[in-house]
Amino acid sequence: MSIIRSVITGVGSYLPARRMSNDDITKIVDTTDDWIVERTGIHARHIAADDEKTSDLAIHAARAAIAHSGIDVQSIDTIIMATTTPDNTFPATAVTVQAALGLHHGAAFDVQAVCSGFVYALTIADTFIRCGQSKTVLVIGAETFSRLLDWTDRTTCVLFGDGAGAVIVQGSEGEGTNADRGILTAHLHSDGRYKDKLYVDGGPSSTGTTGHVRMEGREVFRHAVVNIADTIRESLEATGMTIDDVDWFVPHQANKRILDGTAKRIGLPPEKVVITVGEHGNTSAASVPLALDGAVRDGRVKKGDVVLLEAMGGGFTWGSVMVRW
Ligand code: ACO
Repeated sequence: MSIIRSVITGVGSYLPARRMSNDDITKIVDTTDDWIVERTGIHARHIAADDEKTSDLAIHAARAAIAHSGIDVQSIDTIIMATTTPDNTFPATAVTVQAALGLHHGAAFDVQAVCSGFVYALTIADTFIRCGQSKTVLVIGAETFSRLLDWTDRTTCVLFGDGAGAVIVQGSEGEGTNADRGILTAHLHSDGRYKDKLYVDGGPSSTGTTGHVRMEGREVFRHAVVNIADTIRESLEATGMTIDDVDWFVPHQANKRILDGTAKRIGLPPEKVVITVGEHGNTSAASVPLALDGAVRDGRVKKGDVVLLEAMGGGFTWGSVMVRW
């Protein structure tokens, strides 16, 4: 049976030039390189320059993905941008990217699912393509998360960084089997009972301020390992695949201990896990496309490979996308 599949035809990313090591952070809060590395696996993160906005990072990543795919930029009919750190409360940062790319047609909008944002945006792109709403979608995850940090709170400021990643997703005919290229299955979840475990203590309709990240780290950790393992299982069940069929696991990069715990729980060998958290920290919605771009460009992810993307973040939100590259 012939069906429409959403194929990722290009990928790109961007990191701000400024690299902040753990030693740099020890000059700001009472912490040590040893503590951060042992608890999180993070060695450094990149921080946007004062005059660098989320849209600037996104535009760099978008241009790289467009160049990688080789498409005519004018063929993009939809831009879906996952971010928790928009340039302004409104309009959507996606329209700033749209204008910068010289696009005056189609639709551009932001998606808010915090660290799960890219998985949400990619799933929306897949749905739009399969139902005929869109043909070529630019999906971006971009964050200047450093702007939400309380730089006096050592329990959160050591964890996050800034960055952007993007993919081009295009409709293509498939046979409706797991041998097709493109997105094979996608699953999204949220559970608002846990919204106070990880949140920002500000917003336009509450305080009128931007606010700072607040987190119950242990609770987040506990739920992350369970929820991520569950959504991986549902991706496998939906496709009838086993964990051995997965060539690359590209997870949201929150904490190396979460990644190790998840891999162990689902029986995935560590060499199949793409890990960038050590050099990027947690870049929220940008982390999955940043990691994916690295693994595609260095030749690890090859055409035909099965790539499993997943994320979990504030809300809680979580989800997974299985792709044949
Ligand atoms: N440096 C030194 N000491 C610290 C630091 C720090 N940066 N942060 C906390 N501590 C101290 C605490 O004050 C506490 O001291 P105490 O025992 O004297 O009270 C001690 O370290 C232990 O604190 P815990 O919070 O219990 O440490 P834990 O082992 O849970 O590690 C961490 C904290 C790393 C945040 C962990 O809970 C975690 O990774 N949680 C997941 C959170 C996460 O990844 N969030 C990202 C967003 S969500 C997502 O993307 C999935």
